[in-house]
Amino acid sequence: MSSDLLDRIRVSGDVPRHVAVIMDGNGRWARARGLPRHRGHREGMKAVREAIEGAVEAGVEILTLFAFSTENWQRPAQEVSALMSLLQLYARKEREELRRKGVAVHVLGELDRVDPRTRRAVDTIVEGTSGGTALRLNLMISYGGREEILRSARELARRVTEGRLAPEDIDERVFAETLFTAGLPDPDLLVRTSGEHRLSNFLLWQLAYTELHISPVLWPDFTREDLFEAILDYQRRERRFGRVSAH
Ligand code: IPE
Ligand code: IPE
Ligand code: MG
Repeated sequence: MSSDLLDRIRVSGDVPRHVAVIMDGNGRWARARGLPRHRGHREGMKAVREAIEGAVEAGVEILTLFAFSTENWQRPAQEVSALMSLLQLYARKEREELRRKGVAVHVLGELDRVDPRTRRAVDTIVEGTSGGTALRLNLMISYGGREEILRSARELARRVTEGRLAPEDIDERVFAETLFTAGLPDPDLLVRTSGEHRLSNFLLWQLAYTELHISPVLWPDFTREDLFEAILDYQRRERRFGRVSAH
């Protein structure tokens, strides 16, 4: 089934270069089974593996996963600490396999808010996989879109105050180069799981013209086939960027 979908992707047009995913529904997955929420997060690790392998198979260049938002710091301390431990486990367990697959991991977000242990684990996965050429994986941790835009505004204000930048020279390119995603193309496709129709403060600047695909699947149940279906859905879209239709 998975190779059928891949064949269809190959004949259906361009594969999205950059796919972003809001991985949602771990808590509901656990609750439906009478399990504590952290079991849902743990199970979600398998879906992360599926998404990465699927992205490589489909020929996606950049996969950006929303793993922990700035707002998620407001969850109960026990859940936050379970999520941080899971990140450490992920870094330890998956580093070698990711390196072998040629996946270069980057971690983007306000990492000074992350505890030193998790920070170290995250650094080792970034260092251990650098130079991979099959896929660039961005793990968004302690990330919030508004905060990212504010950081850029502060940085540009600083440059102006120091006389290094003229206000009229601030254009989209200059602004984008101060974001965490500097140097990367905007996502072509955004997938959100668990049926929620909102952005939850994810990549507010970068998603301006991104195609949205809402999947009803809860994140722990997400498979590469679900990713392939999302890509096929994307390939049926006509991207107009505000212009008129080409045909
Ligand atoms: C997504 O699952 C994981 C994180 C936000 C860290 P949730 O924990 O939000 O699961 P639901 O939305 O409560 O089901
Ligand atoms: C968004 O999911 C954040 C991540 C997937 C990391 P949330 O579950 O935190 O978002 P809301 O609360 O439903 O908007
Ligand atoms: Mg949620």
